[in-house]
Amino acid sequence: MQYTVHFPGGQTDYYPSASTQDLLQLAPIEHTIIISDNNVAMHYGELFKGYKTIVVSAGDQSKTLETISALAKQIAEFEAHKTTRIIGFGGGMICDLSGFLASIYMRGIEFGFMPTTLLAMVDAAIGGKNGVNIGLNKNMLGTIKQPKFIATNPAFLNTLPSQEWSNGFAEIIKYACIADEPLWHQLRTQNLIGFQKDATLLSNIIHQCVQHKNRIVLADEQENNIRKSLNFGHTAGHAFETIYRLQHGQAVGLGMIVALIASEQNLDFPVHIRPLLINMLHQYGLPSTIDFNVEKVMHTLKLDKKRSNETIDFILLESIGKAKIHPLTFSEINRALQTFFDEGNR
Ligand SMILES: NC(=O)c1ccc[n+]([C@@H]2O[C@H](COP(=O)([O-])OP(=O)(O)OC[C@H]3O[C@@H](n4cnc5c(N)ncnc54)[C@H](O)[C@@H]3O)[C@@H](O)[C@H]2O)c1
Repeated sequence: MQYTVHFPGGQTDYYPSASTQDLLQLAPIEHTIIISDNNVAMHYGELFKGYKTIVVSAGDQSKTLETISALAKQIAEFEAHKTTRIIGFGGGMICDLSGFLASIYMRGIEFGFMPTTLLAMVDAAIGGKNGVNIGLNKNMLGTIKQPKFIATNPAFLNTLPSQEWSNGFAEIIKYACIADEPLWHQLRTQNLIGFQKDATLLSNIIHQCVQHKNRIVLADEQENNIRKSLNFGHTAGHAFETIYRLQHGQAVGLGMIVALIASEQNLDFPVHIRPLLINMLHQYGLPSTIDFNVEKVMHTLKLDKKRSNETIDFILLESIGKAKIHPLTFSEINRALQTFFDEGNR
């Protein structure tokens, strides 16, 4: 099964259950350069046999302009040209690096993704936003260019460490909160192990999330309005991630709690939902508390890309499944963080 999504900026062929054979077809050896990381290469390096391949060190510390510069030199040495195809074979870090590189090399060459983490399958591989961090600031340089194809094979998740599953579920919980109340109820009745054991359940939920992201990106590829809702939990989350070196999903989980508190304080969002979200984070192996410094987080938040003068566009919830872009003043953000700090450390 395969389908094509026609985004304003280009079309993506989507393969929800791609096989190794699909890789060979999508990526003819003579025109393809594979970019991966050392963990993924350790598990799946066999599949790259015969391909020009570049393996970078795993982890977000590789998501820099320096790596892009080194990769550009390496693909130039491989004589990459306008008809070369870059394949990002890995998690969200590799999708970001390879998509960004391909988008700027020779002013843009084709690229495709084979996502190997749950987070990349449900989120990072989709939508064409790719970039690198500048120092501690996440995704400060980037492009929006759609991949030619995304070939997903949930079997790659068999080797994924448990914590990485949890990181993926943070984004799945995000979709439930912003766009899908039935998914919220489904997640409440299941847990991480349930999804790990049931391939059909897993494929279905990946598919549902891909549909959500595609629908949102189709409506607003350039992130002028509805696409911003995908940042639910990410504004405070990025600050936690940056300062306390948390994993992305852990930080997003905490950021979703802060966003829910801000929704209670500014949109009369019902207070009984917060304990349900906290339980859900636990069901999927994610933390719900952190020992943090409110001032430090505020300081980092003020550097956020979504800042305009004295407010930051936050994604709040009117109800489960219904997100709202809402500018919050620094004092409103401070209040939500303080509440999280006070109640989390009680
Ligand atoms: N561009 C976007 O729209 C978007 C959206 C969300 C997140 N992101 C970015 O994605 C990155 C996070 O992605 P991630 O969580 O996939 O992290 P990641 O790519 O760093 O992968 C997490 C870890 O899992 C390992 N790994 C990957 N696949 C594996 C497999 N099948 N088996 C065993 N180990 C495997 C990796 O080597 C790494 O150590 C961040 O940089 C984030 O900013 C981008």
